[in-house]
Amino acid sequence: MTIIRAKSTPRADFIFYADRIIRLLVEEGLNHLPVVEKDVETPTGNVYNGLSFQGRICGVSIMRAGEAMEQGLRDCCRSVRIGKILIQRDEETHLPKLYYAKLPNDIASRYCLLLDPMLATGGSAMKAVEVLLDNGVPENHIIFLNLIASPEGINAFAERFPKVKIVVAEVDQGLNGDKYILPGCGDFGCRYFGTD
Ligand code: URA
Repeated sequence: MTIIRAKSTPRADFIFYADRIIRLLVEEGLNHLPVVEKDVETPTGNVYNGLSFQGRICGVSIMRAGEAMEQGLRDCCRSVRIGKILIQRDEETHLPKLYYAKLPNDIASRYCLLLDPMLATGGSAMKAVEVLLDNGVPENHIIFLNLIASPEGINAFAERFPKVKIVVAEVDQGLNGDKYILPGCGDFGCRYFGTD
């Protein structure tokens, strides 16, 4: 976290260390999926009392920064289906507006790992959850993976969608007037994808 937050960190390091955190978030998110007991026989002829995942998953990234988290999910879940949602602030109403959504057609029967690295006001994330609910995904089947959250964003989100699980690496101090997270890491998407 220290490396990705430092302004002086070169892009290659930003990507490398952000990817490491993303991998941890994905692994932790997967730990929250339901399991059933499963016994297997080991090569020693003994039984190991283990667990087996119950159900199916998919990823949904909130464009553009959330797309940076897709590879981390693919690294853990072979051939995982990944939907995308594009939400931007409407120029006139200033409210988050849905511009594009492409989701797996059987999404209602899957657990969804919602991907967005920064939770600032929570506006986009809450709109994205609305889209998932409209597509039949039960609220308690959504796990939101997030690197840095503001207290304002996380409180608004949790109050509106109490059954969504949030797996977040760090909760910061707050937001500035431009709705950037403080101390934050700046614009995650621009640093990850190399745009200004
Ligand atoms: N998105 C970012 O990339 N950074 C912030 O601080 C807030 C939203």
